[in-house]
Amino acid sequence: MHLRSRIKRYVPWPLHYLYRKLYYAPQDLPAIAGFLFHTTASPTTFGERLRLVGAFYRISYRVDCPHTEHELITIARAILNLGTNVPGVIVEAGAYHGGSTTKLSLVAKLAKRKLAVFDSFEGMPENTEAGGASIYGREHHFPKGSHAVGLEEVRHNVATYGDSSRVSFHKGWLSDTLKDFTEPVAAACMNVDLAQSTKDCLKYLYPLTSAGGVIFSQDAHFPWIIELLGDAAFWEKELGVPKPVIRNLGSSKFVAIPR
Ligand SMILES: C[S@@+](CC[C@H](N)C(=O)[O-])C[C@H]1O[C@@H](n2cnc3c(N)ncnc32)[C@H](O)[C@@H]1O
Repeated sequence: MHLRSRIKRYVPWPLHYLYRKLYYAPQDLPAIAGFLFHTTASPTTFGERLRLVGAFYRISYRVDCPHTEHELITIARAILNLGTNVPGVIVEAGAYHGGSTTKLSLVAKLAKRKLAVFDSFEGMPENTEAGGASIYGREHHFPKGSHAVGLEEVRHNVATYGDSSRVSFHKGWLSDTLKDFTEPVAAACMNVDLAQSTKDCLKYLYPLTSAGGVIFSQDAHFPWIIELLGDAAFWEKELGVPKPVIRNLGSSKFVAIPR
């Protein structure tokens, strides 16, 4: 078993939390410093940014979050810097327990944007994807129903630790729910593990994304996602655009796809 899986299984939560925060501190702390000490296009005070960072750590303590603070701080900073010339909502595809949803709900409040959240709330769809080792060497498999967390738990987490006032939930398979979505998108966060689910996100969200907007993937440590995002034929045939330049593709879990 990989070291991280062993720690997750055997080390009690407060210690596990401390381990995770120390392990990722070299990545997290520079992102936090950059966020705290720079103003944002959507006006925020130092106090508001500090409170947001504090809320992120509290949410990570209370809700199982399979992402790092660095990822969500980077997303928060990008969203708060979009400015009014980039219209649209924030989209999240893939909520799990709602840790990232809860954090994004607080970012949406500061950015005065809506947050639309898409998930089956029943876990992964039926699929034939084999899974395998990520670029960090850990094995991942996503059979039907894995990562299942119900909508009520996510709603509860957002209401308790975040801000529900700007959040809408879209329950169902992405291929169904995103197909009917028509609102302009300023920023989208894809964290859906499967190549097919990522394809569904890009197929429906990329055309809705405003010029100057951005789509993040938090799954780019999986070889099948790297292959998809780097596939010029996919971009040209499915989306009718040349493959965009995606910095750090192949070496980072977290990548930004500019529009
Ligand atoms: C890794 S989890 C999301 C983690 C979450 N963003 C976070 O950081 O806390 C992946 C989620 O994607 C959802 N998902 C994957 N493929 C899907 C699909 N085709 N339709 C609906 N939901 C899907 C799963 O139900 C699961 O909740």
